[in-house]
Amino acid sequence: IHTADDIVREHIVNKSVVMFDILRASSTISTALANGCQEVIPVVEVDEALAIASRLPEDTCILGGERSAVKLPGFHLGNSPLEYTPEVVAHKTVILTTTNGTKAIRRAAGEDGVVLIGSLLNYSAVAHKLFAAEQDILLACAGTRGKFSLEDTFAAGLVVAELVQLWYSRHNAAPEESCSPQADPVPIYAEEVPVLPENGLLLEDAAVAALRLAEAYRHKPLRALYDALHGQKLAQMGLSIDLNFCAQLNLYDVVPVYREGKITCL
Ligand code: MLT
Repeated sequence: IHTADDIVREHIVNKSVVMFDILRASSTISTALANGCQEVIPVVEVDEALAIASRLPEDTCILGGERSAVKLPGFHLGNSPLEYTPEVVAHKTVILTTTNGTKAIRRAAGEDGVVLIGSLLNYSAVAHKLFAAEQDILLACAGTRGKFSLEDTFAAGLVVAELVQLWYSRHNAAPEESCSPQADPVPIYAEEVPVLPENGLLLEDAAVAALRLAEAYRHKPLRALYDALHGQKLAQMGLSIDLNFCAQLNLYDVVPVYREGKITCL
């Protein structure tokens, strides 16, 4: 697990990469694609977004995004997933620029990489794709202006928990309690867990910390979003409705994937 700003090329080569920006870019992208949007173009600068829009037929594209969580002047939509309804986005190209999220996607992709977009709304679908890919994994948390963010790490931890469960199921050694918030937290490498094969599952400390965070919040995801600094700010701006929406676990089955400048459904 890395904060997106810290990612360098050696972190991403030969890895499956996922970017999380729960509040709100990842949630907005997942919702737009689940609601039939054709593609999302994530853009770092506002001017770049306007330039791309000017080259496309007007009725085919939607300009979306924010700075300081507020819709940009001249843009059709802000960065609330609730704005990206089927009526508005179906069959459209969404050009999106946000403070942290779209930058984090481009950073996590490097020059020519592929990045999955993870949110609470689709974390299980993302975990299944990662498991099927059988590669090392980098979970990139967008963070807030380069800093650790609780909500992104929580979502990354849910993916780790699901991967651990999938791994144990494959090896017929699922320690059900280890990911259950009701039970005492059982160490992943508890003595009763069979010895792992040499090329088996290895979790870095940051992944274990995220997993434990996920155990703490998985039955109260909305609490995690209100605890998060960016969640507090959005709530104070009257955007609690977005927190409620973004806190829904596995509302969608979509796995958005960034490749060659565009995000489409895998
Ligand atoms: C971001 O990308 O920085 C966030 O999605 C900001 C927001 O909540 O709109």
